[in-house]
Formats: sequence, C-alpha cells, structure tokens
Amino acid sequence: MIERVESLGAAALAELEAGPLEESWLADFEVRVLGKKGSLTLLLRETGSLPGPERPAFGAKVNAVKAAVQERLGERRARAAQAGLAARLEAERLDVTLPGRPLRWGGVHPLTRMTWEICDIFGRLGFNVEGGPELEDEFHNFDALNMPADHPARDGMDSYYLEGAGPGGARGVLRTHTSSVQVRVLRRRKLPLRMLAPGRVYRRDAADATHGAQFHQVEGLAVDRFGAVRFSDLKGTLEAFARLMFGRRLGVRLRPSHFGFTEPSVEVDVQCFQCQGSGCALCRRSGYIEVMGAGMVHPGVFRACGHDPEATAGFAFGMGVERIAMLRWGIPDIRLFTENDPRFLAQF
Ligand code: DAH
Repeated sequence: MIERVESLGAAALAELEAGPLEESWLADFEVRVLGKKGSLTLLLRETGSLPGPERPAFGAKVNAVKAAVQERLGERRARAAQAGLAARLEAERLDVTLPGRPLRWGGVHPLTRMTWEICDIFGRLGFNVEGGPELEDEFHNFDALNMPADHPARDGMDSYYLEGAGPGGARGVLRTHTSSVQVRVLRRRKLPLRMLAPGRVYRRDAADATHGAQFHQVEGLAVDRFGAVRFSDLKGTLEAFARLMFGRRLGVRLRPSHFGFTEPSVEVDVQCFQCQGSGCALCRRSGYIEVMGAGMVHPGVFRACGHDPEATAGFAFGMGVERIAMLRWGIPDIRLFTENDPRFLAQF
C-alpha cells in the first residue's frame, strides 16, 4: 500500500511538472488529485480497510504526499501567474514616447462669439443684458411698440403666428425682433436705464445670402428724463460701436427711415467688405449692407409702458448679429452660420 501511495504521488508530481503553466489546467489538476474525489484523497479513505497497526503510518504517508503535491502546485501556480503577466505585458506593449494624437477642440459658435463682443462693447458704455421670451404675444411684439394691428410694418414683418399660444388663449407670435424686450424692461424697471437684449428672432423671409427665417439681433435701449438723452447721444454711441467693431476700414452711414417705435428713425449701413462700396451681388449693388435700425423712442411706447412721454426720452437700436459678423469677418453668405461645416467653424 505504501508503495502505491508513493507511485501515485510520483506520478502526480511528474504530471504537474510536465503540464502547462496555465491557471485553468492547474485548477483542474487540483480537483482531479487533491479535491474531495481526487485520486490522493480517495486513497485516504482506504485507511479503514487496513489492519489497525498499519493505519497511522499509511495515513501519515498519504498526507505527506498530498502536502508535497500541494506545495509543488502552489509553486507552479505562482509561476503561471508570472508567465501570464509577462505575456500580457508583451501583448499590450505601450510606447509612451510616441507623439499623442491631437484632440479636436470644440469652440464657441461665431454668432455666440459676435453676440458676446457686441454685449462687451455696449457693456463698457453701461448697458446691461436683459432677456425675454422667443414666443411672444402681439402686445409685446407689436402693440406696445406703436405698431397697431392695421400698421403696414406689421404685415411687412411676415410673422410666424401660433394660434392659442398667447396669454389667455390669444394668438402667440414668434418674436420678429428683440424690440419686444424693450417693452418688458420698460414696464418693470425704474429710469434711467441702459439695456441690451441679445436673442433669436423669426421672420417668414426667403433664404438668400443675407436673409434667413431665423436670425439673431441685439437690441439696445437707453432711457432717461427728457433732455438727458438726445439724438446726438445715439449717433455718438453707434459711431463708437462701429469704430470698435470694424476699426476705420469700413465706412458707416445713417439713412432716414421709419419704424413705428422710433421718431426720428434711421437705418445704419456699413460699407460692403466685398466690394468696398463700389457695388456687388452681396450688397445688391448698393455698396452698403444694412446692419441695424435705430431712433429716438416714440412717445407711444413710453405711454404703453407706463412712463410719462412728456418727461421721458430715450434712444433705441436693434442690430443683426449675422450681418455684423459677415462684415467683421468677411463671410459672404449667411447660410454658412447654420450649415455646421467644421471647416468654417474651425476658423473662429
Ligand atoms: N426692430 C427693428 C427690426 O427688427 C430694428 C430696430 C429699429 C430696433 C429701430 C430698434 C429701433 O430698437 O429703435 O428691424
């Protein structure tokens, strides 16, 4: 019997030695030899069939052999783990000296950036930023701005209406200009005030190089007591803005115009960057591109917003952000802003 134990033990050790250095094989070996039903364990059960005096020596022998196999198994396991690690290090070799792959940086959209620049310039002149909803009602977008329902400018704006979207189930309108924010601010703030309102506006306009059904404006409004704000303040403010925005490269002109909410009213044109004023397709042969409307706030607006029109004066302006960005950066088509071509966007 003792010889059987020895030969079984020797065979197990030989098998262990010859076997692969793999954890899965070693685990299987452990079950087959040392497990509950392993060959060496089963041997131990035969102790009972031996004559009494031989039993202790037999048991001790089996346990010694088991211990030897167990120890050798532990060593093989350690080597298997090392070999596995070495193989992984080889397979997953990493050259930390290779140059990195540059990440493509995202950036601020040019229209956002231009809006920031405009607000920054007027911010230095004491204007602070206000906001209002894009889905407006007709009172704020038209009526309070001295544009009654039969006013021709109101049709001219070709608005998008949403039935039932206004207050009390009235008709709502996607704001056609940021001038609606003037009304909101005038109604809630004390005078004097200087405010800006940047934002998106909507018009049923056919898309071309300088028009879109959705575009951006920055509105400005400065109001004080009568006599404290004059047309010359408006002119000086807009000239200062144009100089800071375009430098002395592009000429600026004011043209008499008409808006319901200002009197007198002007439109501000900036010399076309593409033809320098001689006339081309972009500026429709006029040599200039219109960038904003402006004027002295109409008394009807003050009245509608709860201010005494006799004692109050102010100027207002509303500029197209796309148009200003086009002039500033030499962008020939307004549609480039919404096409999201990374070759275009990456230039800003
Ligand atoms: N709201 C006008 C438009 O969208 C622009 C404008 C003109 C704004 C005169 C003003 C203003 O504040 O005083 O065309």
